[in-house]
Parts: sequence; C-alpha cells; structure tokens
Amino acid sequence: MSAAEAFYAAHAAAAADARDDAHDDDDDGLWTPGAARALARLESAFRVPKQKLHEIVKHFAKEMDRGLAAPNQTLKMIPSFVVNLPKGSETGTYLALDLGGSNFRVCEVTLEGAGSSGAVSNVRMRQRKYVVSDDLKTGRGTDLFDFFADCVREFLVENGIHATDPAHNELVLGFTFSFPCSQTAINKGALMHWTKGFTASGVEGQDPVQLLQDAFHRKQLRVRVASLVNDTVGTLVAHAYQDPSTHLGIILGTGTNAAYVERIDRIPKWDGPIPASGKMIVNTEWGAFDQEGVVLPLTSYDSVLDRQSAHPHLQTYEKMVSGLYLGEVMRLVLADLASTGELFRGVSSTVLTTPYSIDTALMSRIERDHSAELADVRVVLEDLISIPKTSAEDRRIVKRVAELIGTRSARLAAAGVAAIVSKINRLDDCTVAIDGSLFEHYPHYANRMRDALREIVGIAADNILLVQARDGSGQGAALIAALADA
Ligand code: BGC
Repeated sequence: MSAAEAFYAAHAAAAADARDDAHDDDDDGLWTPGAARALARLESAFRVPKQKLHEIVKHFAKEMDRGLAAPNQTLKMIPSFVVNLPKGSETGTYLALDLGGSNFRVCEVTLEGAGSSGAVSNVRMRQRKYVVSDDLKTGRGTDLFDFFADCVREFLVENGIHATDPAHNELVLGFTFSFPCSQTAINKGALMHWTKGFTASGVEGQDPVQLLQDAFHRKQLRVRVASLVNDTVGTLVAHAYQDPSTHLGIILGTGTNAAYVERIDRIPKWDGPIPASGKMIVNTEWGAFDQEGVVLPLTSYDSVLDRQSAHPHLQTYEKMVSGLYLGEVMRLVLADLASTGELFRGVSSTVLTTPYSIDTALMSRIERDHSAELADVRVVLEDLISIPKTSAEDRRIVKRVAELIGTRSARLAAAGVAAIVSKINRLDDCTVAIDGSLFEHYPHYANRMRDALREIVGIAADNILLVQARDGSGQGAALIAALADA
C-alpha cells in the first residue's frame, strides 16, 4: 500500500468508527497517518457501541436485583425511608444543608404549597454557597462538621434568622449528604465510605446526622436535623413537587448517582414496616456499578486513574462518567500521546504531567470551540496547560479526544437511565430529573444521552424526558424534612 493509500485507509477506518458510534460532531477532517492511527486506537478504546450498551443495561438490571435482595452488594440500592412524594400542598420554612462535591450550600426554603401540579413558583429559596477546602475534605471530621455549623451560623446571622434564642422555635433542617449512607431511619444513617476525594477522618461508619447535631450543640445553635437525604433523592422529590411523572432523580456533576421510586414488594431485603404508599425511594449508588470490571469498557487510562485515586477499586462507573474524573482521563490520554510523540511534537509540560490539572470545565471549553483554527483550544493548551506550541492538527486531535471521553460518559449514563426506567416499566412515560454541572454545562451532553437512549430502547426513548432540575437537592431536603416533620 502506498503512503497515500495508507493515509486514506486509516482515515476511512476512523471515520467509519465515528459514524458507527453516532457521534454528533463531525470534525474528522483529514489526518496525517500518525494522527489517524492514534485516533483509530483511541476510538476503539473509548467507543461504546450499541451492542455494548445493551450488555451494560443487562448487567445493570441484574446488579439492581442483587442489591435489592441483600445488603452489601455492588449496587447498594439503599432504601431512603422516603415513602411519599410531596403532594405540592406542603408549607413551611425549613433549612437545608447540601454537601455535594465541591460545594457546600446552606439554604432557607419556604414551601408555599401552591398546590396542584404544574405550579413551579411554589418554592422560595435563599441560599449561599461555600467552598469546602481540600484541607477540610481530607482533615479531621470534627473540623469539617464544625465548618458546616459555622457556615449555618453565618447564614442565619446574615439573613436575620434567630437560632440561639430560646424564645424562638427550634429550626428544622434537612441534611443532603451526598455520599453512600446506609439508613436506619429518615434521620439516621451511617457513612459506608467516602467518595469524590473526601477522606476526612472519624466519619466513615458514623452517623452524619449525629455528627452535624453535635456540631450544632458545640456552636449553641438551636437547629434540629430532621432528615438525612442523598442528593439524588432530594432532586427526585423536589422535581416531583412540580411534575408528578418524575420517577428518577439523577446527579451528573462532580460525582454521579441515581435514585428512583420502587415498589416496596420488589425490595426483598426491606424488613421494616410496609408504608401505606407501598413505595420507597431507593438510592442506587450507581457510581459503584461494575467495580468487578465485568462489563464496563475500561481502558488502560481508566486503570491508571483508578490506581492513583483516593479510593482505588471503588466507584468504577463514577470514574468513567462524572465530572471529577473526565478531565483527568483526558489529561492521561494527552500526556500519553505527547510521550509517544503523537501530539505536540513530543513536548509535554509540567501542567500536563500534574494529576487533576485539567478540569472537566476545560474539556467543555475545548468541545465548545467550533472556530476553524480552534483558537480557544489553542488558548487552553498553550496558555493554561503551558504547551509551548500546538499545530492545527494537535488541536483537532485534542478536541476529538474530549469528544470521545465526553461521549462515552453520556452514553454510559444513558445506559443506567435505560436500565432503571425499564426496571420500573415506565418506558411509556417517565420524567428524569437531572442536576449537576456535567449535564447542565457540558456541550451536547443531553443530546448524546438521548441518542444512546434511542439506540437502547428505540422509539420509547421519546417518552423518557431528561430534564434539567437545578438546585433540586436543597429544596428536596427541605421537602423531606417537611414530610418527616408532618
Ligand atoms: C456518591 C453519591 C452521590 C453522588 C452525586 C457519589 O460519589 O456516592 O451518594 O449521590 O456522588 O453527588
């Protein structure tokens, strides 16, 4: 084969792969042979073809059943003790604390109970965000919980809300704590293990409600923690307040997870009282899916990321899907291509060799650049990642790598959604409330999920509404506190 034939053959193979995978960006262009080879290799590693999606959905269904049948399975399928969705008539003012991934929020939520479905304006909210520093995430648990209590005090003072004066009623608070907690009551649980880079000592195995309550006592705040809520559960409940066909709540942000409404008779491991509703919201903790590596298409980059992570062998699906990790997968790929000379003429940079130096927000920015010369990709690579000089082809390769990793994430997330919606027989009508920066800000994310859903469930995908549910978890925690307080 002549050099020219090899060039076009490689290009045709890469383009065919791309079509096969239904990618929505057509930026293949013509590649030099080296670039075409590198891309073909990466495409075959990161692609999740239709057949693979089906295998994942099948395994997901099996794993969900195992998690519902017995404790300590890979998918933890945690009963949330939330047995009712709100009716829309709930009223009152509640506090909510929301510890997600990078941010911590304090909210005051006023439920105005406008009543019927469709009313969107029946929640008022004041809130403030605080950044949780790396020192707090990885230091002593008591310092972390004291910080939460200090933030609450500051928030209350700023908003003229009384919480130390015995003449005022105790404030009621819903605690959104977005980590895997086994629950024994709506306001009682135990952290099974940290995720998302948190390692604060003395918290694993403990009840986060008690730790928070103790911190409030230390700070003399008259606040009662009425509920312990996962962010997915909060998102689901908050959205159901407005749209009763909401059956799933999903987070696609720093971390990822899903909760859904399950029939209690389909949770064999549940040995508590049977709620009148006959239902229970289950927190799947899907981030842990396939920790055994049975079906997920792991690449060598995923293995390196896992080995070097704060929690090796845990949260395998989360590491392929969520925002904390996508930028790091991308960094590992780019550093590898630079080391083999397939990118940047073999030149790397200190930034490129520093773990977690590429934020997923930078990947979004790269994917958003549609200019002919990829001028913004140049800014990202040369100014922010300190690569001395990039060619137009380097930049196109980098953009393609971002597309591959971003598309893989969306397609895997879609497989999880399809598995749950099929399990609860809602293929004819289901609203999926989704919160998180990845779903909200990553270019084409929702469309890529929809494409994959169509490949998995066919035309029924049109009945699955993926909707943005911003800031739902705080509202949901307040609603759940209201339901628990009723
Ligand atoms: C946690 C979940 C949480 C998700 C999204 C995961 O790391 O295990 O409990 O819902 O992140 O915040």
